Amino acid sequence: MFSFSPFVPLLCFSFLYSIQGSYFDQEFAKKVLSSAKKDKDWLVSIRRKIHEYPELRFQEYNTSALIRSELDKLGVYYEYPFAKTGFVAQIGNGFPPVVALRADMDALPIQELVEWEHKSKVNGKMHGCGHDAHTTMLLGAAKLLNERKGKLNGTVRLVFQPAEEGGAGAYHMIKEGALGGVEAIFGMHVDFERPTGSIGTSPGPVLASVSFFEAKIEGKGGHAALPHETVDPVPAASFAIVALQQLISREVDPLHSQVLSVTYVRGGSASNIIPPYVEFGGTLRSLTTEGLLQLQKRVKEVVEGQAAVHRCKAYIDMKEEEFPAYPACTNDERLHQHIERVGKLVLGPQNVKEAEKVMAGEDFAFYQQVIPGVIFQIGIRNEKVGSTHAPHSPHFFLDEDVLPIGAAMHTAIAETYLNDYQHSTAV
Ligand code: NI
Repeated sequence: MFSFSPFVPLLCFSFLYSIQGSYFDQEFAKKVLSSAKKDKDWLVSIRRKIHEYPELRFQEYNTSALIRSELDKLGVYYEYPFAKTGFVAQIGNGFPPVVALRADMDALPIQELVEWEHKSKVNGKMHGCGHDAHTTMLLGAAKLLNERKGKLNGTVRLVFQPAEEGGAGAYHMIKEGALGGVEAIFGMHVDFERPTGSIGTSPGPVLASVSFFEAKIEGKGGHAALPHETVDPVPAASFAIVALQQLISREVDPLHSQVLSVTYVRGGSASNIIPPYVEFGGTLRSLTTEGLLQLQKRVKEVVEGQAAVHRCKAYIDMKEEEFPAYPACTNDERLHQHIERVGKLVLGPQNVKEAEKVMAGEDFAFYQQVIPGVIFQIGIRNEKVGSTHAPHSPHFFLDEDVLPIGAAMHTAIAETYLNDYQHSTAV
């Protein structure tokens, strides 16, 4: 009953680690970064191939095949498919702890407006959010980790997922078992406001819970000269949209961030006809998942109520089939400290800063609902190459110097995690 023996080697290990860890860690970090930099040409060529042929959510067949063929050449084991085009690679001794690193592979329905040699060759599709870089950096980590596999004190799972942009690819990866046995997960996203060579990380809520909605207000159309013979949906929709603006200002704690944006209104086709219906829609965001659920409920009540006041009927659709609601991304405090520590070792203490909260969504949140995780920002801003445009802009551009840096960060995060968290499975 009182078996102390398992603790003895563990305590010795921790003690030695705390004395010697710092020196070894710094040597290790330098080595990982210099190895990654030697792979830069290969990483750039892979990233450019992905960039030239972007694929939208759940269609990433060629991107997936390209990365898997590189893993085949490296001799890295993987399982395919997950969530249609996704796959999961594994490197290490096959034993716990198991730590996961994640990349997303999908592009956006945007026409690239940057004129350069490796511009998207597919009309209307572009890697405008840096997922081509995320995928390449994780492949880079696969190579480095595989070279160091004999030194890994556990197992690294590399999760290549489809459909981050609105398709909840992460949700489907989890449903198909991608996280089995994993105890922590890390992801990174390129950040155009942060210089290349730096990262940003924060604990707690960092990205919003997001959903979309569509409303249709139905009345009875007719001649604009005879409004009394119609049931006019235009004022009903107008009152509803104005009323929605007050949900956040009057009903939400001002210290709890939420957004409600109505982004389009459609109705009518002529100046002298009252239309039979008006449609509008937009997006809802909250830094807590509970906040989003409450906002969804109130949007429905307010639109239906305003429609009824104006003798109309309202139909609200939260578009869950097409765009499942994303939970909020909430970073685990302990793992955030791990990123800070590794970031300082690999990039230098001056290059690790706090990450700002943003009301954008990220399906990484689905992983964080299951296990502790951190998503952090990796800088790509470089005026010299013009990587100064926001994601989802047709002018978005990547500083490819980030590729080895991201590969090294992934590698160091995973390997150091396995060393630091041996105790979590030893007890
Ligand atoms: Ni993105």
